Amino acid sequence: MTGPRTIIIDTDPGVDDAMAIFYALGSPEVEVIGLTTIFGNAMTDTTTYNALALLELAGRSDIPVARGADAPLVAPFAGPADFVHGTDGQGNAGIAAPSSRAIDREAARFIVDTVMASPGEVTLVPIGPLTNIARAMQLEPRLAENVREIVLMGGNAFAQGNATPAAEANIHNDPEAADIVFGASCPITMAGLDVTQKVQMTRADLARIGRMGNARADQLARILPFYLDFHATTDGLDGIHVHDSTAISYLIAPDAFTWVEQPIRVDTGDSFSRGKTVSSHGHSGWEEPWAGRRAVRILTGADSRRLVELELARLAE
Ligand code: RIB
Ligand code: CA
Repeated sequence: MTGPRTIIIDTDPGVDDAMAIFYALGSPEVEVIGLTTIFGNAMTDTTTYNALALLELAGRSDIPVARGADAPLVAPFAGPADFVHGTDGQGNAGIAAPSSRAIDREAARFIVDTVMASPGEVTLVPIGPLTNIARAMQLEPRLAENVREIVLMGGNAFAQGNATPAAEANIHNDPEAADIVFGASCPITMAGLDVTQKVQMTRADLARIGRMGNARADQLARILPFYLDFHATTDGLDGIHVHDSTAISYLIAPDAFTWVEQPIRVDTGDSFSRGKTVSSHGHSGWEEPWAGRRAVRILTGADSRRLVELELARLAE
């Protein structure tokens, strides 16, 4: 039995980010050695505050938090998804103020230092825009060859987008960064909308969280109603899509998933399809834009019920 996988979660908490962070903290298969924060669901000041507060609430202020970028690599930030996660990134339900502070090193430097100190051992788990990861790769060109794997929540190879008809939110927030990351030489697994929209928690599942009786679950029970309302209004769903936690589930139970492996390019243009993750579809003769790119493991299916029960069990601990 090998030991836990050491992971850095790059995150924009965010309601589903909060679930994913608590899920990882409650899972012995992974060891969270750091959080790095990014804009997306809220501005980076807010996501950093939330990351510190979530760790403190979980009794894990020993885990370092490194504050990340305030804006994408090239284009301006289009603005926080406060209509999905609340203006505070916590479903407008708030969270107890943290007494801890972010470390002095910024996210990209923390990622480089941590990965290069343990070559081949650290897995990066980005569940927000990929700006910090791209900046770390620019800071240290050898980063990718020293990363064990990148398991990211983002993109949509075959499914429709959610930020626009074409693009998924994390990728749409920084397409240039995403195209850099998907061109990296390390193994990459993409938990995009192709699979995360198939992993759904029902209203009854969410009610179980409210009965768990621990501080983490109580916080989730407070912040989920706003997120649930968004899904009801936007998707007509009486439940939620399990986006960020699905990246954690892959680390814990990869056998619960199906996938295809194809190289990915990201549309970095200025048309209606900006931010779309485009796979080569395995066709020969079309391969020029994907030439030289390592195939990405694109998750396409999952045993939803099994993963929901697994996550609920970990949140209850
Ligand atoms: O498209 C879903 C993704 O965008 C999730 O990571 C969610 O937290 C938001 O960041
Ligand atoms: Ca997120």
